[in-house]
Amino acid sequence: MQEISIGLLGLGTIGSGVYKLLQEHEEELEFQLGSKLVIKKILINDINKKRMIDGRKIPSKLLTNNPKEIFDNDEIQVVIEVIGGVENAKNYMIKALEAGKSVVTANKDVIAKHGVYLSELATKNSCDLFYEASVAGGIPIIRSLTEGLASDKITRIMGIVNGTTNYILTKMTYDNMSYKDALKQAQDLGFAEPDPTSDVDGLDAARKMVILSSLGFSMPITLSDVYTRGIGKVEKEDISYSDNLGYTIKLVGFADIVKGKVEVSVQPTLLPKDHPLASVNNENNAVYLYGEAVGETMFFGPGAGAMPTATAIVSDVITVGKRLKLDVSGKHMINFKNERTIKSEEEIWAKFYLRLNVKDEVGVLNDITTVFAKEKLSFESVLQKPTKNPKDASLIIVTHKVVLKSYIKALKKLKELETINCIKSSYRVFCD
Ligand code: HSE
Repeated sequence: MQEISIGLLGLGTIGSGVYKLLQEHEEELEFQLGSKLVIKKILINDINKKRMIDGRKIPSKLLTNNPKEIFDNDEIQVVIEVIGGVENAKNYMIKALEAGKSVVTANKDVIAKHGVYLSELATKNSCDLFYEASVAGGIPIIRSLTEGLASDKITRIMGIVNGTTNYILTKMTYDNMSYKDALKQAQDLGFAEPDPTSDVDGLDAARKMVILSSLGFSMPITLSDVYTRGIGKVEKEDISYSDNLGYTIKLVGFADIVKGKVEVSVQPTLLPKDHPLASVNNENNAVYLYGEAVGETMFFGPGAGAMPTATAIVSDVITVGKRLKLDVSGKHMINFKNERTIKSEEEIWAKFYLRLNVKDEVGVLNDITTVFAKEKLSFESVLQKPTKNPKDASLIIVTHKVVLKSYIKALKKLKELETINCIKSSYRVFCD
């Protein structure tokens, strides 16, 4: 096989990165694969727009706005999907697989929702489906989970898998920047999604955790299994009180499995400052894995951006190419070994951070302690700080480890106390 022919769907930031990488690393890629990787057609919306990459014009004969020129082209063996979105992208992937073409995609939205169906369709059509770029951009985390650590039993996956929110929290923590200004910077720097709601609300990270936990625990986790909470309500006070208490607030994807039962969440979490993820700053991503045999491992790097994401895509293309040459396309489907079993609120244990606005008067602590005692909840630390209103005070509490159900009950009872004006914030605190 002299050449592996590619159809590229989309020529935005990532598509342009893929085009550039294929050009710039042409020789190395050919050496690794023993065949040339050649883009035959690129699907774009506006055929009249002049397309330049690094000052060089993309030959117009490569460009088309007719998807048939890719799906009906027998020469094309691999389709790279980088148009984004859900419906169109999914339908294109289906068309490609049904036409016997392997698919490489960066689309976490589609994979988190339709990955199982698409994988089965790929197998049925003797094709491959690879999606390394869908999680944590340039970090080869999917390959690490499914190949590098295939021999181990993974029991915990923790990730900072959204660059936008990590950037915002870093700027709020270290540069005293407001949430709004930090988000604007993240958008200007190009790592936020077109609609940053999915970043800041945690949905983007939740989709990535669906993919990682499904592969890591060999179980078909769905988006509705992921408790998801974004960073929109994190205030500077929480960041600085957490700091006083020895913690850093990060948007953490957390997944663990105990006796076959799984919990998966994405939420602002207080990480002890000596946790390996606590020092992952700016737009960087990192994934921490715990395996029964290997112990702790951590993977760090750029989670977004044209060239890092392109490395993951083109590496997948190399894998597809090698498999085409070996004539084993479609023969690797990852079957889930385990049935989906999710922990209940009685089975999830954690510590919690609470910031209460209380009346600064005798008996407040006693009221809180009484509620806590009923739910077998105890304090790890308590801070009292003044508020603008001299009659009130802020109480900052970190609890000891407690079962989630009891904590939720305690919160409900705290809300009913007359001495408590309001619960300002409540976050999970990482503990082993
Ligand atoms: N919006 C994503 C992020 C890009 O901020 O990490 C990569 O999925």
